[in-house]
Amino acid sequence: MRAVWITRPAGPEALKVRETADPEPGPGQVRIRVRATGLNFADVMAAQGLYPDAPKPPCVVGYEVAGVIDALGDGIQGHAAGQRVLALTRFGGHADVVCVPAEQVLPMPDAMSFEQAAAIPVNYVTAYHMLFRVAGVRPGERVLVHMAAGGVGTAVLQLCRTVDGLEVFGTASAAKHDVLKAEGCAHPIDYRATDYAAEVRRLTAGEGVDVVLDPLGGHDWRKGLKLLRPCGRLVAYGFANLASGQRRRPARLVSQVAGIPLLTPLGLMNHNRTVSGVNVGRLWRQAAALREELQAILALWDQGRVNPLIDTTYPFAEAAAAHRRILQRQNTGKIVLVP
Ligand SMILES: NC(=O)c1ccc[n+]([C@@H]2O[C@H](COP(=O)([O-])OP(=O)(O)OC[C@H]3O[C@@H](n4cnc5c(N)ncnc54)[C@H](OP(=O)(O)O)[C@@H]3O)[C@@H](O)[C@H]2O)c1
Repeated sequence: MRAVWITRPAGPEALKVRETADPEPGPGQVRIRVRATGLNFADVMAAQGLYPDAPKPPCVVGYEVAGVIDALGDGIQGHAAGQRVLALTRFGGHADVVCVPAEQVLPMPDAMSFEQAAAIPVNYVTAYHMLFRVAGVRPGERVLVHMAAGGVGTAVLQLCRTVDGLEVFGTASAAKHDVLKAEGCAHPIDYRATDYAAEVRRLTAGEGVDVVLDPLGGHDWRKGLKLLRPCGRLVAYGFANLASGQRRRPARLVSQVAGIPLLTPLGLMNHNRTVSGVNVGRLWRQAAALREELQAILALWDQGRVNPLIDTTYPFAEAAAAHRRILQRQNTGKIVLVP
């Protein structure tokens, strides 16, 4: 099999395609010939050595694949060789063959392409889980999402459209605002040119928002808390502020970590605020819950209510360029790798 290896924690330059023997499926696993695999921000952080959950290099990361089952381990029911599937992988997804526990595998809708299927699991489960399980958005509320033009961000915007009357605020660079508007974001905010917190206050006559979805971390969590209306919810789901640029910058890391707000139950109680965290990568043991969410998302896809926005598709051999595209903040929507 061929896979994209992180040979050392040195960013895109250290990615190499290597060939090894095909894995055999163990009991309860299916083997998938991968046709497309999603690239996530976490993979880019892992290649920089900034993602503690990733295996130590040399390693193959990758959280999601779409492809065709070609072998079954003992005890598999409900799957067959030749079936088109999408799957959540906890690492190892950036390969042309993976063996995955069957409970992490779902059949793909007939009309869905492999690229679309590879763009759905992580981004949409994260967005769905945050909006509907953790924040419990209600019709008419105001939602602020950062990195709104990225993979998770565009999934959030599309899922917000499935709820009546949500007023959505999204931060992204100005060139991406037309896409944000097309995806239902009423208030795209250019976070590079303006202070987004001041802009949200201006647009809401000082009231703020009900939900902040924040994958930036550090100082931004602090700003997000101050933007919450009473009964507001902040969902922390990433620390992208650690990964800016192509190189590690220790002073920036220290400043961002120092910016994390200190919270107490008493303070939250007296402000009527909720702070939650979501890390879908650590929910793999809750396979049944993830499957349920993924099934709900596939049903929305069938109804034409969500449709992943694919920025670019790169062959494995150009994985470094794919990582650079995210680091340089050029992508709008999802980047997909194909063997
Ligand atoms: N907790 C979870 O379960 C989970 C799951 C998936 C993703 N995440 C997190 O969600 C965030 C978004 O992931 P994604 O895969 O959707 O990202 P993505 O598609 O790679 O989006 C990257 C875009 O975000 C914007 N951006 C804003 N601030 C940035 C920064 N400090 N560094 C780099 N880009 C920045 C850039 O666009 P513009 O600047 O041009 O607007 C960039 O093009 C990441 O923090 C990721 O770790 C968390």
